[in-house]
This record gives sequence, C-alpha cells and structure tokens, in this order.
Amino acid sequence: MKHRLGLFDSGVGGLTVLRRLLERHGKVPCVYLGDTARVPYGSRLPQEIKLIAKEVVQWLTDQQVTAVVMACNTTNALASDVAVEVAEGIPVVGLIEAAASMLSESRVGVLATPAAAASGAYRKQIEISRPGTVVVEQGCPAFVPLIEAGQFSSEELFQAACEYVKPLLDAQVEAVVLGCTHYPLLEPTLRQLLPKHVRLVDPAIGVARQLDELLGNPTIPVGATFSLASTRFCVTADPEGFATRATRWLGERPQVELVSLQNPACAS
Ligand code: DGL
Repeated sequence: MKHRLGLFDSGVGGLTVLRRLLERHGKVPCVYLGDTARVPYGSRLPQEIKLIAKEVVQWLTDQQVTAVVMACNTTNALASDVAVEVAEGIPVVGLIEAAASMLSESRVGVLATPAAAASGAYRKQIEISRPGTVVVEQGCPAFVPLIEAGQFSSEELFQAACEYVKPLLDAQVEAVVLGCTHYPLLEPTLRQLLPKHVRLVDPAIGVARQLDELLGNPTIPVGATFSLASTRFCVTADPEGFATRATRWLGERPQVELVSLQNPACAS
C-alpha cells in the first residue's frame, strides 16, 4: 500500500517529529498541518483540546491520508480517543506510548505543556509499561509561546527553564522526557541545566521507529540528509512566519499553504 501520512501540531513543534520520520523513512508523502491560528494548545481546557483534535483530524482525513501521526503531546494526552474515532479505522500513531517504550530508568521527569502535565497521561502510561517508576511531570507554560516567538536564547526562556527543571533535579531523575514536540528545540538549553548522566528522551525517535510497522523497515542509511520534497506544509495562520521559524529545524525554507478548517467553533 502507498502511504500518505497526516501529521499535526499547534505550530512548529510537530516538525521535530516530521524530521525524525523523514530521516528514517525517506520520501514518504506527508501532509503537515500547523494550527498556528490556535497556538498554544497547552493552556486550553480539555474540552477545547478535544474539539480542536476533532477538527484537525477530520481535515487530515479529508486530505486522504492513510494514517494520522499526532505530532502533539497535548492532543495525544487529552484527545486520543477523539482522534481514533474521527480517523474511522485508519491508524493513529501517538507519542506517549512510544516515549514510555523508550524508558529504562526508574526515576523519570516529564516536561510538558500545562494541559498535558495536568492530565497525568505520561505518568499513567509509564506506570503501565514500567510499574514502580517514579514519574515527576512538570508543566511549562512559558516554553511554547517563547519558541513560537523565536526567542530561543532569551533570558526569559533561560529563567523559565531553570524554574521548570528544578523539581526534576530535586527528585533526582535519571531521564527527562521532552513531553511536548516543541521542546527538542530547547535541547541545548536543557542540556546546560541537567547533569551529564541525565538522558534526554525525544519521543519522536520512538514514533519514527514505530512507523516501521506501517511503512516497512527503513531503507535509507542512518544520518542521511532528508528531503522536504514529499511533504505538503499547511497552516491556519501566518504561512510566511511559519516558514521562517520552520527553517531553523528543517534546514531549508518550506513552501507553506494557508488553509482554513471548516468549523470555526473553537477558533481563539
Ligand atoms: N507541541 C504540542 C505538544 O506536543 C503543543 C504545544 C502547545 O501548543 O501548547 O504538546
């Protein structure tokens, strides 16, 4: 079967998943939807997040995708059931299960959006796959707005990172899960703040591996450069700003289309 994957996130965060996927699986056709009109998702109410998930997954299935990759932990934590229902039988792949399967440590920290952290989804999943693991979930409200504003090296971001990492250091965690797809973009800052022995876990790597089941074993050599040629990029606001922000992570400027989702009921 020829696959066409649909990925979505509130903004540039899901590109960290797209990149891992293209690095491993080469030129698989993808449609990427960045719901930039409603970023951030992570400070919204669970009900709103469910409505958004319903709408974006519906839009992706309308584009005839053959599988949906939830490149967003917040919707993964709060609306996986909605996504599966709307996808009507096509596979839905998420980050949280993939992340839990990547862990071997007994003390784990999770940095996530406020909504994802409050849901306890990571803790619950890790308890299922590795009972007895100590899990400390930390909500990080300042991160996504600062990342979307391109402020990677601002003092504000550094101070916020110090504050969010502290409870994890106090709990002596041995691994930190980047529980929001925007956070791999902060890896250099987080690395500065964490002791060397603490492992940073990017769930996107697990998702790309999980997709072997659907797409077959990777045929491209590890470390090969990836191409954006097979990906269609769509956003719900500010295509030029998105293209500029995306360049940092993708290494080249993508062509970005502005699209409008059908149901404006959950527009901010
Ligand atoms: N990048 C998304 C996530 O993984 C959403 C972040 C947000 O919009 O708050 O949760």
